[in-house]
Amino acid sequence: MTKIALFASGSGSNVQAIAEAVAAGTVPAEIALLVCDKPDAYVLERAKALDIPAFSFQPKQYESKAAFESEIVDRLQEAGVEFIFLAGYMRLIGPVLLNAYRNRIVNIHPSLLPAFPGKDAIGQAFDAGVKISGVTVHFVDEGMDTGPIIDQECVRIDSGMTRNDVQKAIQRIEHNLYPNVITKLLNGFREEQTR
Ligand code: GRF
Repeated sequence: MTKIALFASGSGSNVQAIAEAVAAGTVPAEIALLVCDKPDAYVLERAKALDIPAFSFQPKQYESKAAFESEIVDRLQEAGVEFIFLAGYMRLIGPVLLNAYRNRIVNIHPSLLPAFPGKDAIGQAFDAGVKISGVTVHFVDEGMDTGPIIDQECVRIDSGMTRNDVQKAIQRIEHNLYPNVITKLLNGFREEQTR
């Protein structure tokens, strides 16, 4: 089974969806580590309940991003992690992690990239009045939500929908799309290895 890590900073509803898909046997992976940069984030409670080992840290307690990313890389390697899936990790990935896991870091973003990168993508789309938004899963590079797109799914924003309605519609899609994309990626990776 491929060992994966999930990175999150907040509520962790995507972590929950992925973990449930792993438990159901639909995602061929073992979640070997949850990495969280906010020690009071709700996702850590979910991890405990789901029996996922977690590493949480306070970035401010390190002298630099390189310093905390080096520690993360050590923990990932100790745990045998081969792929990283960001699920609401609110931090740009730096060169230390990118070099250690080149083309092995994937993110989910709540808009149809390249539209509305960065923070509060749902609010940005809502305020812009677009009628179609959605979800993007992409590889992570040094930019902000700029890496190669793996898959996307759209959501219609009908008049009368509140911001909260849009958020719910986006989350519903995320919770299916992300486990599906992870499954396809890991199956492809395994096929390549057995060739
Ligand atoms: C999701 O909308 C994801 O697309 C974005 O951050 C949010 C995380 O939500 N990157 P949750 O913590 O998984 O509920």
